[in-house]
Amino acid sequence: MITARAQALTTRLLQTRNLTTQSAAAPTPTPTPRRLEGRVAIVTASTDGIGFAIAKRFGDEGASVVVSSRRKENVDRAVAELKSSNSAMRVIGIVCHVAKAEDRKRLVQETLKSYGNIDILVSNAAVNPVFGSMLETDEAAWDKIFEVNVKSAFLLTKEVAPHLKPNRGSVVFVSSIGGFAPFEALGAYSVSKTALFGLTKALSRELGPRGVRVNCIAPGIIKTRFSEALWKNQQIADRSLETVPLGRFGTPEECASTVAFLASDDAAYVTGESIVASGGMQSRL
Ligand SMILES: NC(=O)c1ccc[n+]([C@@H]2O[C@H](COP(=O)([O-])OP(=O)(O)OC[C@H]3O[C@@H](n4cnc5c(N)ncnc54)[C@H](OP(=O)(O)O)[C@@H]3O)[C@@H](O)[C@H]2O)c1
Repeated sequence: MITARAQALTTRLLQTRNLTTQSAAAPTPTPTPRRLEGRVAIVTASTDGIGFAIAKRFGDEGASVVVSSRRKENVDRAVAELKSSNSAMRVIGIVCHVAKAEDRKRLVQETLKSYGNIDILVSNAAVNPVFGSMLETDEAAWDKIFEVNVKSAFLLTKEVAPHLKPNRGSVVFVSSIGGFAPFEALGAYSVSKTALFGLTKALSRELGPRGVRVNCIAPGIIKTRFSEALWKNQQIADRSLETVPLGRFGTPEECASTVAFLASDDAAYVTGESIVASGGMQSRL
């Protein structure tokens, strides 16, 4: 015979399951505010995925945007897509492989030539050439990961910093939840993302006295080409979702709204911080 206590427990479990089903879709976005009116923003690696969503969100919030990535055809396509999604958007495209010094310099110089100043830098580019045992990662792969994911982020910030205005300038690094809890088979990549938390802290101290803020976002598993290995195969997707309390993968737009908050005056007293957008995945070092 079923007791009242057991019945209450069953009802609660069913309610929880019902809640889980209800939370399996991203909520409808609220109307976009216009917090970035008059700001100029460079977003690296912004022709696809999270970077593209950030560029779109910034443009929709009134910023003048620079999209960039390694391939000119991708840059041209992204600019055309952004303009067709919002004809009032101010957007230009500049080819920039973040690991190339001459590209970083040109990115800054052409932005200044087109828009006259720079207010926001989002350093979003990253690579991951290896998937597997960390101890089998060779030196060349390690160097490439750290060159693109960490060193280039630092060197580009160094290039942009002199142009960022007091009490207005803002830098946002795109790290990863893997920087807190290393992904199995993505060891070196995860360590490079941990380094970005340190870079955020160190640069926020140095730029703070000038009123320039430096923050970081750590996305969880976001459905993009970059993370295909974690969601394309249904069995692997189910296993990945076991680690996500919200029970679904994130969207690039959900990262973009967090980055827009950090870049805007709504976060005027926030610096040196990392915001985790991971649907509840573990986020402590
Ligand atoms: N997706 C996730 O689950 C997830 C989770 C945590 C963190 N992240 C981080 O989010 C960032 C963006 O990832 P994503 O998922 O949006 O990737 P994605 O959809 O694959 O897009 C990658 C973008 O980066 C550009 N790119 C690649 N290498 C570049 C380089 N060396 N210099 C400049 N641009 C470059 C690509 O364009 P070209 O090919 O034209 O260069 C493309 O625009 C990365 O930092 C990644 O580590 C992603």
